[in-house]
Amino acid sequence: KEGLETRYIGREIYCFDEVDSTNIIAKELAEDDASEGTVVIAKTQTRGRGRRGKKWISPRGGIWMSIILRPEIPPAKAPHLTLVTGVAVAKTLKREFGLDVGIKWPNDILIGDKKVCGILTEAHARFNTIEYIVVGIGIDTNVDVDLFPEEFREGATSLKRELGVDVDSVDLIRKLLVEFEKVYEDFKRGRFPEILNEWRRFSKTIGSYVEIRKQLGEIVRGEAVGVNSEGALILELDNGKLRKIVSGECIHLGR
Ligand code: BTN
Repeated sequence: KEGLETRYIGREIYCFDEVDSTNIIAKELAEDDASEGTVVIAKTQTRGRGRRGKKWISPRGGIWMSIILRPEIPPAKAPHLTLVTGVAVAKTLKREFGLDVGIKWPNDILIGDKKVCGILTEAHARFNTIEYIVVGIGIDTNVDVDLFPEEFREGATSLKRELGVDVDSVDLIRKLLVEFEKVYEDFKRGRFPEILNEWRRFSKTIGSYVEIRKQLGEIVRGEAVGVNSEGALILELDNGKLRKIVSGECIHLGR
């Protein structure tokens, strides 16, 4: 916490050596009334979770962290936080390391065409009101992706691999929390359209020919032509029709 220049994000930080998942710990703390901005960090996770029920490999050397938020927004807008967080991470990595940082819709942070960070947003609502949101951020900083099981290795990279040197994780967490607070404050002040514009500038998906795998096995292919004001992806299908994609796994097939 030393030298952390934020107003409320990270004013309360819980650090652990090993947990099942920082998102789970954050949820428990939130249920116990932890305040907005409370952060949970662990050196390693035994049951790190990714999107769509996938496992998230979380060895020592990476940044595994969750932030508790209590925004006054309708539950339908909770997914916006994923894009807000993506912009905060992308801006920080770009500024600190000057790498070719991009975002794959909706929320994978890429260096070149390889994933370096994933974001898992979990909203908890009651009576159609948000009680709290946990934003989980996983960054492969000083990890060796060659040691990942094969299905996780492909398409992954780490900051250490891209830079050739170890990264100061504590310093990066500080910078990230400062940037997050700024973008999150903008979001709460109704500046989501501007944040989306920043997201568009980082996007590696817009302009790509993509395949979307939907939850029930449906596959949609087309050119990603943009994102709408809600952050949904707009595809131009091969027959020229436009289709709005709200959720799904996105695979870049080419430009
Ligand atoms: C993805 O599938 O891309 C999202 C990965 C999110 C991983 C982070 S690591 C910290 C937090 N705790 C978890 O169990 N998952 C998130």
